[in-house]
Amino acid sequence: MGNSQDTKQGPDLSLGVAVSDIPASGLLRGHVGDDGVLLARVDSAYFAVGASCTHYGGPLAEGVLDGHTVRCPWHHARFSLRTGEALRAPAIDPVTSWNVEQRGEKIFVTGKTKTLPIRKPISGQVPSRIVIVGGGAAGFAAAEQLRRDRYEGSLVMLSDDADPPVDRPNLSKDYLAGVAQEEWVPLRAQGWCRDNAIELRLNTKASNIDPRAREVELADGTRIPYERLLLATGAEPIRLDIPGGDLAHVHVLRTLKDCRAIIAAAQRARRVVVIGASFIGLEAAAALRTRNLDVHIVAPEKRPLERVFGAELGDFQHQVRRQVGTRAVRLAVQFADVNDEPAEQQRFDARSLKSVLRGVFGGGQAGDTGADNDHIKA
Ligand SMILES: Cc1cc2nc3c(=O)[nH]c(=O)nc-3n(C[C@H](O)[C@H](O)[C@H](O)COP(=O)(O)OP(=O)(O)OC[C@H]3O[C@@H](n4cnc5c(N)ncnc54)[C@H](O)[C@@H]3O)c2cc1C
Ligand code: FES
Repeated sequence: MGNSQDTKQGPDLSLGVAVSDIPASGLLRGHVGDDGVLLARVDSAYFAVGASCTHYGGPLAEGVLDGHTVRCPWHHARFSLRTGEALRAPAIDPVTSWNVEQRGEKIFVTGKTKTLPIRKPISGQVPSRIVIVGGGAAGFAAAEQLRRDRYEGSLVMLSDDADPPVDRPNLSKDYLAGVAQEEWVPLRAQGWCRDNAIELRLNTKASNIDPRAREVELADGTRIPYERLLLATGAEPIRLDIPGGDLAHVHVLRTLKDCRAIIAAAQRARRVVVIGASFIGLEAAAALRTRNLDVHIVAPEKRPLERVFGAELGDFQHQVRRQVGTRAVRLAVQFADVNDEPAEQQRFDARSLKSVLRGVFGGGQAGDTGADNDHIKA
């Protein structure tokens, strides 16, 4: 997770800026020394925090002021302007908080605020053991926040992923394109869970919940007791339920393991078919173009992203895809079969792509924890 912005952009805020120079948006990008700083006006009060989002360095000055918070324009993380704290995913780390002084009609940023205020420990009745089912961003953020709130009880995280929590958005973008290193993908460095006394169990599937006994049953029959249970099981890709959809060269993209497999296959392939023309499919197509593969996108919709953005923006997206060199965008087409003689309208792809990599990037559907009873829903 990085910060790619030029840190010396905008005025030197240590020298002061006129109140009238702060744009109507209430956000002004400047710097102090080598640090990028965002100056924000809320009513008639002024705040300053680091200018770059701690997720992927999104330019906060181009974001949205929302009360005493700023939202990142890229993936909508939210930061407190008072403390710099990350209040909303996908950012986890705070931005630096700076001291501000108003002298007459000028605002000066005078130095870094020392530290985030120490939170009070969670009060009231505190459970002695919390089990989180899910090792994605939500499960991880909950565990992280509990420890930040000085929760000292036992914390167990169950995940049927093979790897510790990762930043999934990277998997269809820079990491898949080969321009981000793998060490940027985990949400925290190796050993973070251990250091924070979080028992992370990987490759562990919760198959049933017994609310009466307050136990989670694992696929191997082990039972894990809990006092409070958090379900953060996210979504699963929709698999291609057609003949050949389960062949080894048909991939889905959800986990780091999936992404590694696609990258390995891409190194041997010349062409890829991406099935699905919404966010993940289109991003994956762009990333694989960066690897110089011929990319074909196939989807049943008439336009990319039409379901999300409507026809006009869908048409625009379509043009952009062509300009970036996606070879063919076959829309309003259903894949009927991956391996057998294709139906008339699929002949172009199934013939020429028989032994090459195919990616399948479907929409998501809710994960299955067996948590379909009223107690768990409540
Ligand atoms: C390739 C890709 C790119 C994306 N790009 C973006 C983006 O650019 N912007 C954006 O906003 N969102 C993006 N998303 C979506 C974003 O990643 C999800 O919204 C986010 O991951 C949801 O987090 P989550 O923790 O709720 O669920 P998930 O990340 O889905 O995690 C769920 C966890 O639960 C575990 N689990 C599920 N069932 C069980 C079980 N029975 N037992 C044990 N563990 C279980 C899973 O193994 C997993 O660890 C992308 C997703 C993908 C896959
Ligand atoms: S870069 Fe800000 S939320 Fe991702």
